[in-house]
Amino acid sequence: MNFVAILIGAALPVKSMEIDVPGIPPGDDPATVQSDTVTGPCDTTADAALVAAGLAVYREQYCGICHVLDTASSAGAFGPTHNGMCTIAAQRIRESSFTGASSTAEDYILESIVDPLAYIVPGYERSRFQMPAYTNLGEGDLDALVILLMQER
Ligand code: HEC
Repeated sequence: MNFVAILIGAALPVKSMEIDVPGIPPGDDPATVQSDTVTGPCDTTADAALVAAGLAVYREQYCGICHVLDTASSAGAFGPTHNGMCTIAAQRIRESSFTGASSTAEDYILESIVDPLAYIVPGYERSRFQMPAYTNLGEGDLDALVILLMQER
């Protein structure tokens, strides 16, 4: 039984259950794996001003025309969702079919923006609305976009 199962077990009259908690391999001893000691690439909280700057660039560049991002109230359907982008990025780089050069979630997001053809998200190979390469953006704007999307867990 893992940590969450213990919490639920304490609150509900259930006997024993396995709940899959991302980041904690099933069957691990809760005495050695506490939920507050599990830190991943998406656990950092950025300065609110930096996130706001990212949101401003996101809007200026009309990313939301093609992407869903609840924080930006955008609902574009031509590209994959940006909700949960950091978690998604961390998964992409681990896929055996990954063709990009990045090895961190952060780098993957940046690479996707400046060199979208490095890895094409499965299902979008034949999209008529391809992701443009935003090579015209300055470093500050790119950083802000990456910070914004890294907050998406
Ligand atoms: C014309 C539509 C369009 C616009 C505008 C657009 N994108 Fe995309 N984007 C796509 C498509 C389609 C994909 C999936 C294909 C690929 O991986 O290149 C994608 C993929 C991505 C990914 C990878 C997503 C994943 O699930 O792995 C990121 C990150 C991203 N875009 C960020 C941005 C940002 C930031 C902007 C604005 C600066 C932007 N996009 C603007 C169409 C667009």
